[in-house]
Amino acid sequence: MSKQASADSRMIQSFFQLVLISLLVIGSARWILDELKSNKSRIFNLYGFKQKPAVFVTKDDQLNESCNVFEGQWVWDNVSYPLYTEESCPYLVKQTTCQRNGRPDSSYQNWRWQPSECDLPRFDALKLLDVLRDKRLMFIGDSVQRSTFESMICMVQSVIPDNKKSFHRRSPMKIFKAEEYNVSIEYYWAPFIVESISDHATNHTVHKRLVNLDAIEKHSKSWEGVDVLVFESYVWWMHQPKINATCGDTSKVQEYNVTTAYKMALETWAKWLEKKINPVKQRVFFTSMSPTHLWSWEWNPGSDGTCYNELYPIDKPSYWGTGSNQDIMKIVGDVVNRVGDKVTLLNITQLSEYRKDGHTTVYGERRGKLLTKEQRADPKNYGDCIHWCLPGVPDTWNEILYAYLLRSHRNNNF
Ligand SMILES: *[C@@H]1O[C@H](CO)[C@@H](O)[C@H](O)[C@H]1NC(C)=O
Ligand SMILES: *[C@@H]1O[C@H](CO)[C@@H](O)[C@H](O)[C@H]1NC(C)=O
Ligand SMILES: *[C@@H]1O[C@H](CO)[C@@H](O)[C@H](O)[C@H]1NC(C)=O
Ligand SMILES: *[C@@H]1O[C@H](CO)[C@@H](O)[C@H](O)[C@H]1NC(C)=O
Ligand SMILES: *[C@@H]1O[C@H](CO)[C@@H](O)[C@H](O)[C@H]1NC(C)=O
Ligand SMILES: *[C@@H]1O[C@H](CO)[C@@H](O)[C@H](O)[C@H]1NC(C)=O
Ligand SMILES: *[C@@H]1O[C@H](CO)[C@@H](O)[C@H](O)[C@H]1NC(C)=O
Repeated sequence: MSKQASADSRMIQSFFQLVLISLLVIGSARWILDELKSNKSRIFNLYGFKQKPAVFVTKDDQLNESCNVFEGQWVWDNVSYPLYTEESCPYLVKQTTCQRNGRPDSSYQNWRWQPSECDLPRFDALKLLDVLRDKRLMFIGDSVQRSTFESMICMVQSVIPDNKKSFHRRSPMKIFKAEEYNVSIEYYWAPFIVESISDHATNHTVHKRLVNLDAIEKHSKSWEGVDVLVFESYVWWMHQPKINATCGDTSKVQEYNVTTAYKMALETWAKWLEKKINPVKQRVFFTSMSPTHLWSWEWNPGSDGTCYNELYPIDKPSYWGTGSNQDIMKIVGDVVNRVGDKVTLLNITQLSEYRKDGHTTVYGERRGKLLTKEQRADPKNYGDCIHWCLPGVPDTWNEILYAYLLRSHRNNNF
């Protein structure tokens, strides 16, 4: 080919490219306009300078603003649930893998939460990763919250190839990363949210408790600037009606009523939040207490068991056991309301109250070890009616969190 001919052919090529690009631009601009006009779906992130694939939040993803998603019932759905399996998720710890630990029934994995007035959006890991692109999501709290974190990374991880995800511990944290999205999903151990003698992630006393009700800085410096924060703290407070704590002078230990102490701690947290959280850039959630099911007489009068061998959810509307303290709920409500728009309450207590079947019972751990055969035969003393099997109930809490994040994304381009 002569020089001239090759220059011509290059010109023709670039001409075609130009035409093609124009067609694409016109086509997509028109399509976007149509989409916006029809208002059937919305398109996000089109105006960013970084090249970001758009998140397509469809009509089915939109939570009805007036719908209370925490009111509803559990419906049998062994087609869509579980959202993952014990085998498919490498990040589950022994404490929650009930099947592997010998639990003979698995129907606790097959219930879907159905709000009365609307549907929850179907969980889509790719959408969540897109919403969280270049962001950090952090779960803060106790071992129940650690399960929520594990549930979340199990729900997300299957769509990410092995060499594009990582998991590591940096005590008191655990961190999961999805490289291509630059998303970080993290867990921070702080069983009382405020400082305490139980703050070491693994080496902490269980029976001796001492809480510094007005001290949070040691933890909170790790929370600053995190895009989405999800807090939870409950069972560690409920050991006894009173709890040893300090306020101000750390050498002056005093016994406080648990409700008084809880309120003071939450106020310390609220003060931090009001000072440090930028509601334009950050989202904060507080998860209400995860219920316990220690005594079967509460849902089955006359019986004398625990949550062991419970195979079905409770179907009594508005069932509420003694494991969920109403005074604590009221304190949570008061503090969260006072803080206002900066924090959203995930009121998962009622929906979880129904799930007496979802706990690990004797198919979990005690002090870091699986139960022995003898301990398993004694569910009354060794059954765990606090923690949940995974897959299981915490997956639903995360589906609700997902729904809120999509909504936030839609309304505020968060
Ligand atoms: C939202 O829920 C309310 C109350 O249930 C209902 O009246 C309304 O039609 C719903 N809106 C949409 C868009 O579904
Ligand atoms: C799902 O549940 C239905 C109703 O209980 C049952 O007939 C069916 O066998 C179940 N399917 C699977 C795959 O477990
Ligand atoms: C990745 O995300 C972090 C926040 O989690 C952000 O600070 C950083 O700029 C992001 N990196 C890139 C390359 O966008
Ligand atoms: C655990 O903590 C206690 C008290 O702080 C300390 O004496 C002990 O050496 C620690 N154990 C381990 C294994 O780190
Ligand atoms: C508070 O600490 C004292 C001294 O260690 C102990 O005797 C008491 O039982 C503790 N109170 C509670 C409620 O744990
Ligand atoms: C602590 O609890 C007891 C018993 O519930 C109650 O009588 C007392 O008034 C409470 N004290 C404070 C300071 O709230
Ligand atoms: C959470 O939901 C329960 C059950 O509907 C309700 O009794 C409670 O008041 C709610 N809590 C708050 C703080 O709104």
